[in-house]
Amino acid sequence: MRALELENLSVYYGPVRGVEDVTLHVEDGEIVALLGANGAGKSTLLKAISGIAASKSGTIRYFGDDFAKKSAHRRVLGGLVHVPEGRRIFTALTVGENLELGLYGTKVKRTERADRLVEILEMFPILREHFKRLSGMLSGGEQQVLAIARGMMSKPRILMIDEPSLGLDPQKIDIVYDLLEAVAATGTTVLLVEQNVNLALEIATRAYVLQQGSVVLSGESSALAADSRLSAAYLGEVDGKAR
Ligand SMILES: Nc1ncnc2c1ncn2[C@@H]1O[C@H](COP(=O)(O)OP(=O)(O)OP(=O)(O)O)[C@@H](O)[C@H]1O
Ligand SMILES: [Mg+2]
Repeated sequence: MRALELENLSVYYGPVRGVEDVTLHVEDGEIVALLGANGAGKSTLLKAISGIAASKSGTIRYFGDDFAKKSAHRRVLGGLVHVPEGRRIFTALTVGENLELGLYGTKVKRTERADRLVEILEMFPILREHFKRLSGMLSGGEQQVLAIARGMMSKPRILMIDEPSLGLDPQKIDIVYDLLEAVAATGTTVLLVEQNVNLALEIATRAYVLQQGSVVLSGESSALAADSRLSAAYLGEVDGKAR
């Protein structure tokens, strides 16, 4: 079963091309990476899938369901969660309050909400000790963990995450990536946007490389890692790392 299927998807910001003619798919349970340099269209693609950005043409199918007429909110209710670039947690709220917001607008009952919190804290124990702290007091890595945990509160079928490693030191990146693998191990499909190619290819089964809004390369991670065209897609980068 395909969790996600995009066909010839184009998104424009007025005259500016965000993405053009993107065709890709993600199988249920897969971790797939979207790679590409600054401005390649990675975030735009996630926004179009979650419904924050309107697509100009093309189709988005979610577990076979046509997404075209669904609002962003209905997509969330259908189990599609988007952890945006820069995490967007509510820094003036506590960790616990941020987690509860992961269920905002859902129909999960009060009693079940408490159970969800317990489950999430088991999966993300690092948040337990900070539960009552203001989220703004957390480190960047902890905030990223919180953003993922908040997304997992509603038990999504797909978690899309935009540049989780951005601004984190290597040790924190490892923690975040271990958690993403734990998320995938629960059966949640993961669509991961990364600039750090090596990192993404380590956990993804397959990847798509975007350049100026279009897919220029795709395949199994192991094959891509050995493909010299990958660094070429990053224009000027020779070692496969964008930063
Ligand atoms: N709100 C917007 N208004 C106008 N143009 C935009 C807007 N958001 C993105 N763009 C343009 O769309 C293109 C794709 O941008 P996008 O943010 O999707 O790239 P990205 O791959 O996520 O880059 P980065 O790695 O820097 O986050 C770029 O040319 C960008 O300038
Ligand atoms: Mg981006």
